[in-house]
Amino acid sequence: MRQLPLPEEYTTLDEAETSRRISAAKAALGSRLVVLGHHYQRDEIIQHADYRGDSYKLAQDARKHPEAEFIVFCGVHFMAESADILTPDHQKVVLPNLAAGCSMADMANIFQVRAAWRQLGEVLGWPTPANGTNRPVVAEKGASVIPVTYINSAANLKAFVGEHGGTVCTSTNAPVAVKWALDRGDKVLFFPDQHLGRNTGATLGYDPERDMVVWDPFKPLGGNTADRLKQAKFILWKGHCSVHARFTLEQALAAREAHPGVKVLVHPECDISLVREADYNGSTEYIIRMVTEAAPGTVWAVGTEINLVSRLQKENPDKTVFCLDPQICPCSTMYRIHPSFLCWALERLAAGEVVNQVVVPDDVKKWALVALERMLSLAPVAAASHVD
Ligand code: 13P
Ligand code: SF4
Repeated sequence: MRQLPLPEEYTTLDEAETSRRISAAKAALGSRLVVLGHHYQRDEIIQHADYRGDSYKLAQDARKHPEAEFIVFCGVHFMAESADILTPDHQKVVLPNLAAGCSMADMANIFQVRAAWRQLGEVLGWPTPANGTNRPVVAEKGASVIPVTYINSAANLKAFVGEHGGTVCTSTNAPVAVKWALDRGDKVLFFPDQHLGRNTGATLGYDPERDMVVWDPFKPLGGNTADRLKQAKFILWKGHCSVHARFTLEQALAAREAHPGVKVLVHPECDISLVREADYNGSTEYIIRMVTEAAPGTVWAVGTEINLVSRLQKENPDKTVFCLDPQICPCSTMYRIHPSFLCWALERLAAGEVVNQVVVPDDVKKWALVALERMLSLAPVAAASHVD
């Protein structure tokens, strides 16, 4: 679905008036509405969120108000899809700007994943599917691959993993989800973020060089030999987050030089060379908890999205908090949820018109729900561990 331009009146509203009108529309909708805001949203959006959280927490929060008619998701498209999958049909999920996607999620599509699955089946000797559709594989030990998708993926990829015995994960529970998968199969096909897959495998004690290969969807066998695929434990999709890819090992070393005693804290979507150097790595909620609970006077170099880092600075005036990358790096797609879009969407809802509803088709929803329920049934890790 394409985002149509906003009606003229919304493009000329000033910040204070937009905020006032958002509050008024929220008040008019009352308990019919819940607004969810991802931590990477700007402050002008977060101030109107009933719940703020990372991907894992917001997937849980989406279910907290079954009486609400509308869930307005201030995040990106895959998050709104997940909320639609996890909530009953009478609840309508709205994404204020349909152009708010995720460049990482776009790096894997269902055709590429099906093609990868078919090729892996040929190399690893799975039974050939009789009807051309790849049925769930319950292969013998040594040949089975369990697909795990990061929640940053389209709903049909979540359905794929649900149907093929796999699970969704977020950065909060990736180690638990991958361990769960390896308890059930011999290998993991992890998509679309190679970095989260690699860091998670390393956290679990696997060697990136020996045990992991990268699957390039544009090359036969993902750019690997059959022998290498047979030997690997982790088949990591060649995808990445354009925000977290900006953080580097050199930046961490420079921060240590400039601020002796600094704690380097990064998201596991960053490259493993940086994650290894960092003192801590973990999901967005984990990053917030680490800084919030730290002793006054401590110094934190944080490798994640700038809206979150700026908010951490403001909310922790007794500590020094700065972004690891001196050039600021917002997530440009999260940023598309401008307050004027939120204002427009809420005012249309209050006027009785549902705009920008995100609807996952029933056939996709069925298996995607299986995969998301599996994810939610796996307890998140209490704390992310250091990657050696
Ligand atoms: P979390 O919300 O799981 O920390 O992931 C960060 C992110 O990149 C969201 O798109
Ligand atoms: Fe996607 Fe990265 Fe933006 Fe998250 S921060 S929505 S992974 S592009």
